Amino acid sequence: MRIFQKEAQLGEIFLKFIDIYSDPIVVFEPERHEILYMNQKAKYFLGENSDLSTFFQKDEYLNFIKLIKDCHKIEENRVISFKRNEDKKGVLLFSLYPVAYDDYRIVCFTFKDITEKINKKEEKRRKNAQLILQDKLKSVDLVTSSISHEINNICNFMVNNLKITFQVWNDIFTIIKEYEDENGEFLIGGISSSEIDKVIPRLMISVIDGITRISDTIDDFRKYVKEGLKSETAVIDINEVVRRVVTILNHHIFIYTENFNFNFTEGLPKIKGNVQKLEQLIINLLMNALQSLPNRQRGVFISTGIKLNKVYIEINDEGAGIPKSIMPYIYEPFFSTKYSSGGSGLGLYLSKSIVEDFGGEISIHSEENKGTTVTIYLPYFLENGKF
Ligand SMILES: Nc1ncnc2c1ncn2[C@@H]1O[C@H](COP(=O)(O)OP(=O)(O)OP(=O)(O)O)[C@@H](O)[C@H]1O
Ligand SMILES: [Mg+2]
Repeated sequence: MRIFQKEAQLGEIFLKFIDIYSDPIVVFEPERHEILYMNQKAKYFLGENSDLSTFFQKDEYLNFIKLIKDCHKIEENRVISFKRNEDKKGVLLFSLYPVAYDDYRIVCFTFKDITEKINKKEEKRRKNAQLILQDKLKSVDLVTSSISHEINNICNFMVNNLKITFQVWNDIFTIIKEYEDENGEFLIGGISSSEIDKVIPRLMISVIDGITRISDTIDDFRKYVKEGLKSETAVIDINEVVRRVVTILNHHIFIYTENFNFNFTEGLPKIKGNVQKLEQLIINLLMNALQSLPNRQRGVFISTGIKLNKVYIEINDEGAGIPKSIMPYIYEPFFSTKYSSGGSGLGLYLSKSIVEDFGGEISIHSEENKGTTVTIYLPYFLENGKF
């Protein structure tokens, strides 16, 4: 009888201990994963609601109750995400302590909210990754500014020389015509004298076009690098940005595929944010798509449009696909399956943070050996309620 009293007292002491414990504790009956008791701290955090299935993501909840059911030894320092307000996710660090008495068993679930800590860590990682990128851009800026200076000099003198050549040509042309009138049609460099007045100007114009393209490309590239070092916000036409990226990557696209297509929806609403970051995002995704192709016959397709109050950019490739086993890691910084070919593993990590800066979402669907579709949804910008 005395022993029984002691045991009853011990039960009460156990509950008191749980109540004054520094962290939230929930006591489970493991077989039916029923909550038997919660201390104040747990109630404060979880509310009076004893149904945790709405508190966790479905698949994580199923794992969690299985863990409780099978808990016969202490499980420490596990993490689980939970639903916070406004669709935001939080993270709990938790431990499970099974307490067995005769053939009766309870499981104590104790946890800490480590969301802020993780967010801070994440912020730090993101800043570091941005610093690495800024550093790279600074050295690229140095190189491109001297290359563009050289190239623009050469382009200028080529254009000047062509102008002189054109004047010379005008004079020579008169002589050719006089000669032709006296002696009849003749060949110059395999071209008939009667055609030469059309052919030579056309050749010269194509040379000028070529020079202009070289100079524009290098200017575009410089602008891209320069703007990367700024962080201004602008109203952006996504089609314009995608077109520019396609021009910048034209050569890469040609190397990786002979099957590149785009399909832009015209008249899309504009978005607001940093143009350079959006360019960087599309470059990352387009390069990933191109690098996944096993041969030049496989294709890459880009489209833009509007869906569910968001504008979207979709990049679809017929590449190797992403194996299911690595899917959970692809957004991790420095995760890459391409280290040997120069990958840094920062592409998707930074892309995700850029999409978040824009207030958008990224979704990736992939099937091994078939290809990958990456879609970015971005909120558009309304001026006086219109776009
Ligand atoms: N379109 C895709 N097709 C197949 N695998 C992809 C695709 N996009 C990403 N991946 C996989 O995800 C990994 C991470 O991509 P991420 O862009 O972050 O880094 P990376 O391309 O390896 O390097 P970096 O972009 O820094 O040059 C890649 O190494 C690759 O395994
Ligand atoms: Mg990449």
